[in-house]
Amino acid sequence: MFQNMEFRHLGRSGLMVSELAYGNWITHGSQIEEEAAAACVKAALDEGITTFDTADVYAGTRAEEVLGRALRGQRRESLEIFTKVYWPTGDGRNDRGLSRKHIFESIHGSLRRLGTDYVDLYQAHRFDHETPLEETLRAFDDLVRQGKVLYVGVSEWRAEEIARALKIADEMGLDRIVSNQPQYSMLWRVIESEVVPLSEREGVGQVVFSPLAQGVLTGKYVPGQAPPAGSRATDAEGGASVIKRVLREEVLTRVQRLRPIAEEAGLSMAQLAVAWVLQNPNVSSAIIGASRPEQVRDNARAAGVRLDPALLKRIDEVLEPVIERDPARTVSPPRRP
Ligand SMILES: NC(=O)c1ccc[n+]([C@@H]2O[C@H](COP(=O)([O-])OP(=O)(O)OC[C@H]3O[C@@H](n4cnc5c(N)ncnc54)[C@H](OP(=O)(O)O)[C@@H]3O)[C@@H](O)[C@H]2O)c1
Repeated sequence: MFQNMEFRHLGRSGLMVSELAYGNWITHGSQIEEEAAAACVKAALDEGITTFDTADVYAGTRAEEVLGRALRGQRRESLEIFTKVYWPTGDGRNDRGLSRKHIFESIHGSLRRLGTDYVDLYQAHRFDHETPLEETLRAFDDLVRQGKVLYVGVSEWRAEEIARALKIADEMGLDRIVSNQPQYSMLWRVIESEVVPLSEREGVGQVVFSPLAQGVLTGKYVPGQAPPAGSRATDAEGGASVIKRVLREEVLTRVQRLRPIAEEAGLSMAQLAVAWVLQNPNVSSAIIGASRPEQVRDNARAAGVRLDPALLKRIDEVLEPVIERDPARTVSPPRRP
C-alpha cells in the first residue's frame, strides 16, 4: 500500500475531503461487474481516498447499491459519501427535479441503497427551472435538520444560479451551499471565468468531475486507431455515447503532444491531468472514475503534486485551440427531463 493522499476543506465548510474522490458513474451497476467495482473501491481506500461520489440516477439506481455493498464494514466516520438528486429515477412525473416531494423521496431511496443513515453531501444534480429555489433550499435545509444530510451542494450550476441560492439561503436563514460539482479538466475550463471567482468569494468549493475527460487525457485514445478494448469508448451500454463528443481527431492529436511534458515531470498522463485540476485552489476534490483498480492506483498518485508554472504554460500552448472556456456551456435543461 502506498499512500500520499492529501485532504482539503470542502469549500469554506469544516468538512475535510480527500483531494481525489472516487465516483461510480457509468461503471458500477453497468459497464463493470460487481467484483471489479469492489476492487476499485478497495484500491481507492488503500490509496487513502475517503470521499466517494454517486447519484440516485446512476445505472438506474443500481450504482448506489453497488457502492453501498463495496463500502460495507468500513468505519462510517472515516468516509465522506456524496450523492445527488434531480435526474429521473422513475416514470412518474414527480420522480425527477428538485421539488420537496422528490427530494424527500429520493434521499430515502439513496440512504436505503447506500446502507447508511446519512450522506455527507447532498447535491442538486442540475438547476431545476420548474421549482421555486426557496422550496428546494428549504427541503434541503429540513434534511440537514433531520440529520439525513450533513452538507448541501449543487452540480453544474451557473454562477448566477449559485449566487441566487446563496442570497435566498442568507435571507431565509437556511443552510448555505458549500460546493458545486462541475466538469473541469485541461480541456474544459468553463468554470474559470465566473463560477470560480464567485465561489472563492462565497466559500463554495468545486468538486470537479471528469478530470481525465473520461479517459481521453490519459492518451490511450490514439488518433486514427480503434479505441482500446474494454475502454469507455467501446462500452455500447452507455459510455460510448457520452465520450463520443470528446473523441475528436484534433483533440486526440494535441493530447498526444502532452506525453513528453508528462514524462519530463515524472508523471503518467493521467497523473498530469488530475494534478492539473488540483492546482486550482478553489478545487476541493477531483472525482476520478475507474474501471480497474490499477487506474485508481495510477491516478491517486496525483495527490500532493505541484506543477511548475512553466510546465502549465506549455500545456496551454499545446491545447489552446481545443480548450473550451465559454461559461455559457454550463446549461441545465430548460424543462425537467
Ligand atoms: N455531476 C455530474 O453531472 C457528473 C457527470 C459526470 C461525472 N460525474 C462524477 O465524476 C466521476 C468521474 O467522472 P468520469 O468517470 O467521467 O471521470 P474521469 O476520471 O475523467 O474518467 C474516468 C474513466 O477514464 C478511464 N481511466 C481512468 N483512469 C485511467 C488510467 N489511469 N488509465 C487509463 N484509463 C483510465 C476509465 O474508463 P475506461 O477504463 O472504461 O476507459 C475511467 O472510468 C463520476 O463517477 C461521477 O461521480 C458527475
